[in-house]
Amino acid sequence: MSMFDTMLKDGESLFKNEIALDFSFQPKLIPHRESEQRLIINAIKPLLQRRNGRNLILTGKPGIGKTALTRHVLQILEDESETLPEEESAEVMTVFINCWKKNTSFKIAEDICHQIGYMLTQNKRTDELLGMIVRIANKKSVVLVFDEIDKVDDHDFLYTLLEELYRKTIILITNYDEWYAGMDERIRSRFMPEMVRFEPYSARATRDILDQRKEYAFVPGVWEDEAFDLVVDKAFEVEDIRTGLQVMKEAGIAAEDKASRKIGNEHVGTALKKAERFAIKDSDQLEEETQTILDIVKGHSGKRIGDLFRLYEAGGGKLNYKSFQRKIKKLADNSYVTTEKQTGGANGTTTFVSYGKEKKLTDF
Ligand SMILES: Nc1ncnc2c1ncn2[C@@H]1O[C@H](COP(=O)(O)OP(=O)(O)OP(=O)(O)O)[C@@H](O)[C@H]1O
Ligand SMILES: [Mg+2]
Repeated sequence: MSMFDTMLKDGESLFKNEIALDFSFQPKLIPHRESEQRLIINAIKPLLQRRNGRNLILTGKPGIGKTALTRHVLQILEDESETLPEEESAEVMTVFINCWKKNTSFKIAEDICHQIGYMLTQNKRTDELLGMIVRIANKKSVVLVFDEIDKVDDHDFLYTLLEELYRKTIILITNYDEWYAGMDERIRSRFMPEMVRFEPYSARATRDILDQRKEYAFVPGVWEDEAFDLVVDKAFEVEDIRTGLQVMKEAGIAAEDKASRKIGNEHVGTALKKAERFAIKDSDQLEEETQTILDIVKGHSGKRIGDLFRLYEAGGGKLNYKSFQRKIKKLADNSYVTTEKQTGGANGTTTFVSYGKEKKLTDF
C-alpha cells in the first residue's frame, strides 16, 4: 500500500454526518430504555381516551437518555396523531420546556403559549398567560414536560397547571432523586407522581448505543476496533453516553487533523487529553445570564470567584455578588465548573473556579 493510501486527501472526511454527535441531535431510536418508554406511554395513554393522564418524575444521572427518551415519546405521539382522522388528531397537545433556559414562571408560561400556538404574548402578565394556556389546553388534552425542573425555583406555574388543567400528563425530569421531597406541600398533594428512576447503562448497552451512533456519524470502517473499545470503556466508566459521543467526535477530529484515514488509540488518547475537563452538557441549554458567566469562567479558568465577579461587572453584568455566587454554585452542581475552597489565606476563605468537570477523564 502506498503511503498516500493511509492519508486522507483534501476534501475527504471521516465523518459522514458529524451533527449526529451533537448533544442535541435526536436519534431515531432509543434502544435499552424499553421499560421506561412503556411507563411513560402508559401514563399518557388515558389522555387518548379522554381521561386524565398520570404524572411522572424521571430521575437519574446525566447523559443516560432521560431527555432523549422523553422527546422520542412526544415524537411518537405527534406522529400518531397526524395519522388519525382530523376530529381525533388534535386531541393531545405536547409541550417540552427546558427549565434551565426558561427559569421563571413567566418565561415558562410564555414558552408554553408559543408551543401551543398562542403567539400574542406581548405585554401580558404571567397569570394572564397561564389563564390562556388553561383555556386552550382544556379544549383538548396535554402532555407537559419540564426538563431540568430543579433549575427553576418558582413553581407557581406548576401549581396553576395542576389545579386547573383537566386532562394532562405532567412529566418532570431531574438528576436529583431527592428533589421532589423538597417540593411545596400544596404542589405535592396535587401532583402525586409515579417515580421512574433511570439506571446507568450496562457495558453492553453502552456499546450498542455508541455503535449505533458511530454508524450514523462516521464513514464505515474508519474506526479501529481497539480505539472504539476505548471509547466504550470510558463512557461506561463515567456512566455517561454524552461523554462517549464527545470523545468519539474529538477523536475523529484529531484523526482528521493528522490526515489519518483511520481513527486509532492515539486519536482517542488525544481526544481524552485535549478535552481534559469535559463540560458535561451542551451550554446552549443554559439561560443567557448563566451562559455569560460560564463564558467568563471558561476564559479565566482557575481564578478567584471575586475576580471573576469583577470581570462580569466590567462586562456589563447586572447581578449582585450574592446572585453571581448562586449562579456559580448551580454551574458547579451540574459539573459545568468546579469550585475549590482555600481557607487561611490573607483574605480568609477564597473560592477558585475552574471550567469543566471535577474528575478528569484521564483520572479514571
Ligand atoms: N438509549 C439511547 N439510545 C440512543 N441515544 C442515547 C440513548 N441514551 C442516551 N443517548 C444519547 O446520549 C446523549 C445524552 O442523553 P440525554 O440528553 O437524554 O441525557 P439525560 O439523561 O437527559 O442527561 P442530563 O440529566 O444530563 O440532562 C444524547 O445525545 C442522547 O441522544
Ligand atoms: Mg437531559
